[in-house]
Amino acid sequence: MRQIPILTLALLPAIALAEEPWGKVDRSSAPAMHEKACVSCHVRMYGGDGSKMYTRDGRLLSTKLDLLQRVTSCNAQVSAGWFPEEEGAVAAWLNDKYYHFKE
Ligand code: HEC
Repeated sequence: MRQIPILTLALLPAIALAEEPWGKVDRSSAPAMHEKACVSCHVRMYGGDGSKMYTRDGRLLSTKLDLLQRVTSCNAQVSAGWFPEEEGAVAAWLNDKYYHFKE
């Protein structure tokens, strides 16, 4: 959690240049990447297809940037080894599918 302010600063130029915090990303590989690196653990916690992780009550995320940061920190925690564009693609895809944050 201590890393978040630094991360926020690092992302500011990208936000100034692009409408979306993740910029222009190709979402086509996101579902497979998410399935491979992310789902099993969320399923273990919530059952089903694990998507309750993203729709649960009391979740802490409220913006696209929060979502991107969460994807980044989960990626780091589980050493999925994704590049920033890949984190962005998965965050964008999760937003399309579950979060629907407008900003
Ligand atoms: C080792 C288990 C584990 C793996 C693997 C994992 N996560 Fe998570 N994830 C968690 C836990 C635990 C939380 C809840 C953290 C909390 O409540 O603060 C979480 C929460 C999240 C959230 C926020 C949910 C919300 O709205 O409250 C997102 C987004 C997320 N994970 C994305 C990912 C992505 C993307 C990956 C794959 C790179 C991934 N996770 C892999 C354990 C995992």
